[in-house]
Amino acid sequence: MNVTLGNKVVLVGTGAVGSSYAYALMNQGISDELVLVDLNEEKAKGDVMDLDHGIVYAPNSMSIKFGTYEDCKDAALVVICAGAAQKPGETRLDLVSKNVKIFESIVNQIMQSGFNGIFLVATNPVDILAYATWKFSGLPKERVIGSGTVLDSARFRYLLGEEFDTAPTSVHGYIIGEHGDSQLPVWSSANISGTQVAPKLTEERKQEIAVQVRDAAYKIIESKGATYYGIAMGLARITRAILKNENVVLPVGAYLEGENGHSDVYIGVPSVINRTGIKKVVELSLNDQEQEKFTKSVQTLKDIQATIWG
Ligand code: LAC
Repeated sequence: MNVTLGNKVVLVGTGAVGSSYAYALMNQGISDELVLVDLNEEKAKGDVMDLDHGIVYAPNSMSIKFGTYEDCKDAALVVICAGAAQKPGETRLDLVSKNVKIFESIVNQIMQSGFNGIFLVATNPVDILAYATWKFSGLPKERVIGSGTVLDSARFRYLLGEEFDTAPTSVHGYIIGEHGDSQLPVWSSANISGTQVAPKLTEERKQEIAVQVRDAAYKIIESKGATYYGIAMGLARITRAILKNENVVLPVGAYLEGENGHSDVYIGVPSVINRTGIKKVVELSLNDQEQEKFTKSVQTLKDIQATIWG
């Protein structure tokens, strides 16, 4: 059956990430219909009212309502931000067993509504939970997308923009792998207007930047308890790519079937995103060191997958 078209987005989980994402959608005029679903009905209804009162100043009108999983039936996109969040000092992988159980319940209820659209998963550990959503939903792999390294790559581009006094939108580079401690920067292709940036940096400086990207979330969580604005912007960018059928390349969590030598894992890689979901994975040419680190990142995720699905 063909994927559900239209602009209706259902957001499951209106905590800090979900409500920031909803605010970004409204501000950017990306969708004209948004339904908020959360176990905390009172809070979600408060978010709906609060957002509704901003519509008059938004770029276009938007229907924002509180709803239930039934509202997923005719949704083009369901974005899942629900689940336990990282606490100070906790890794994303520490959340896995709690959130896989929560996801089994959420995804099964969504599929019972007759949902036939695209899932976008943000809850951590996002690579494992994207894989879980794909398995629990039974949807084709291209219709389950993880936020992957969309935020890590944004952090990487921001830091390189600061380093070279250039707008991050003009810095091109990817963080790939786990959205977590085993991620890796693809220095071999990071560039500004086609000129590689790596040769302009010492090995020490490259390592410093990679660590700043990898540990950014820990620092923000230590400071303010959670991260939400950066990831919300990344989710909104992926949403726009889907709803506007952009065919743009974004570093999302995609299911591998042999790309860069690996399969049966959701992991952050550049992918072409459009109305059908992930149109294709863009296989970067990695140098030996990058390939080795990518393989280690894949293995990190597969070791976790094995504890859940054997
Ligand atoms: C972060 C969360 C979204 O990296 O995992 O900020």
